[in-house]
Amino acid sequence: MKYQAILLLTVISLISTFYYSKNQYRILKQNQPTIFDWQYCIERTMLKTCDQDDPQDRSNCYSVASNTSKCYSETSQQASTSCVHWWIYFESSKGKDTLPDSFYQCAEDCAEYAKENTFYFSQTFQPMWIKCSQQQKKDY
Ligand SMILES: *[C@@H]1O[C@H](CO)[C@@H](O)[C@H](O)[C@H]1NC(C)=O
Repeated sequence: MKYQAILLLTVISLISTFYYSKNQYRILKQNQPTIFDWQYCIERTMLKTCDQDDPQDRSNCYSVASNTSKCYSETSQQASTSCVHWWIYFESSKGKDTLPDSFYQCAEDCAEYAKENTFYFSQTFQPMWIKCSQQQKKDY
């Protein structure tokens, strides 16, 4: 219990450190959200997976998820060039760095595949790659 409280406090202080440094950064830099904003948004969003889809639609959902992940995955041989650039950037990024153009291009490249299944697109792909990469309202 004590351990959990300490952990929670650590997380809160990390978040506020990011929050303040992010705001300073944002005044100086461009408009795109930071890596931290993006990750924080994803954490708050409750992405759904295909196993939560309608049973009738599930296998299509899996197939589309698999095709889409071939496009964006860090480990895929068939990843789009922009996605490869995005992962290279991500590996060496800090939380206060902004999302790079390659992120948006990667999202655009792979949305083509994701759009083939409505559930996958709206519950997984869109929140992670489109919604959370827009400028966030500062409601946290
Ligand atoms: C997944 O990709 C394969 C190969 O490109 C294609 O034949 C198949 O139709 C795609 N699946 C869906 C559900 O879009």
